[in-house]
Amino acid sequence: MTTDAARSGLAETPLQSVAWAGDRLDLLDQRLLPEQIVFLPLTTAEDVWEAIRQLKVRGAPAIGIAAAYGVYLGVRNTEGDAEQVRAEIVRQADYLATSRPTAVNLFWALDRMKAKAEALLAGGQTTDAAALKAAMLDEAKQIQAEDEETCRLIGEHALTLLHDGVGILTHCNAGGLATAKYGTALAPIYLAKERGWDVKVFADETRPVLQGSRLTAFELQQAGVDVTLICDNMAGMVMSKGWVQAVIVGTDRVAANGDVANKIGTYGVAVLAKAHGIPFYVACPLSTIDLNTPTGAEIPIEERGEEEVTHGFGKRTAPAGVKVYNPAFDVTPHEYVSAIITEKGVVTAPYGENLRKLFAK
Ligand code: MRU
Repeated sequence: MTTDAARSGLAETPLQSVAWAGDRLDLLDQRLLPEQIVFLPLTTAEDVWEAIRQLKVRGAPAIGIAAAYGVYLGVRNTEGDAEQVRAEIVRQADYLATSRPTAVNLFWALDRMKAKAEALLAGGQTTDAAALKAAMLDEAKQIQAEDEETCRLIGEHALTLLHDGVGILTHCNAGGLATAKYGTALAPIYLAKERGWDVKVFADETRPVLQGSRLTAFELQQAGVDVTLICDNMAGMVMSKGWVQAVIVGTDRVAANGDVANKIGTYGVAVLAKAHGIPFYVACPLSTIDLNTPTGAEIPIEERGEEEVTHGFGKRTAPAGVKVYNPAFDVTPHEYVSAIITEKGVVTAPYGENLRKLFAK
């Protein structure tokens, strides 16, 4: 499908960013959106590593899903017995874990793949190398299927905080493109639309990689949602006009104390929301909550190449040689977070205590 074809009418089904295609992984190249809709056939773990690193696939849950398939692609041709396959699973998972540092879903998915192999061998459920490889593909499919249901549940819980006629501001892309389906922050918007609610969305364009304009505005427009694109520096103006009743964003990692890492610029949006008395909600699956990271200060923040900042509109937009700082994420302190919306329900402060309870349920 080309974008022109997509533009001629609403897409019948939302675009799936990661799809298993029998013998390969078909990955929607998100760098090319919205101008081109291109699916890349990936056949090796190296392909998947590159795709994650270069943001062809991005968004915390989608990265985890792609990496899980990457483990299978990395071991499917491994020769030897089940123990040799298990060792290769660990090697490939550890390799894929070096692709990006911030989204904990990547490590969560890879740990789950390793644990599955471990459990099958330790439990004596298989001693067969072929069966172990097949189990890796099944597990990756399972992670993807669970994510779809998880996102739907996040949407249901988020709806309890919203109302017909609500204006929502979001930052970056935490939609269907970033997950198996629905998204996290965008899930309630899709569910609200299904229920006939009138919802207006303001999408921050999200400098420097423009996930908000290229991806969020694109997927909401495709779904027929009332979306208005704004530059990041317009968020305060839009809030001051009374057009926003809730901010909802996704996250790449929630620390044990409720501090939230998300796309650079999120912190500023949270401060603006507080200044305007607007609730600031974070939507994420439990797989994004990292109780092993005590506070936001310990979350590793990816820094990306300077050309993301010095170039735009197909040309250089900054003087050659200028110093550049380009963190891909920032941390919003938990004091600014009104609630964290998960598949198990809505969590409010004190986060240290209440996030822990979520895992005990
Ligand atoms: O650099 P990206 O595009 O991978 O960053 C994505 C985000 O910051 C999303 O908000 C986050 O991963 C949540 S996706 C449901």
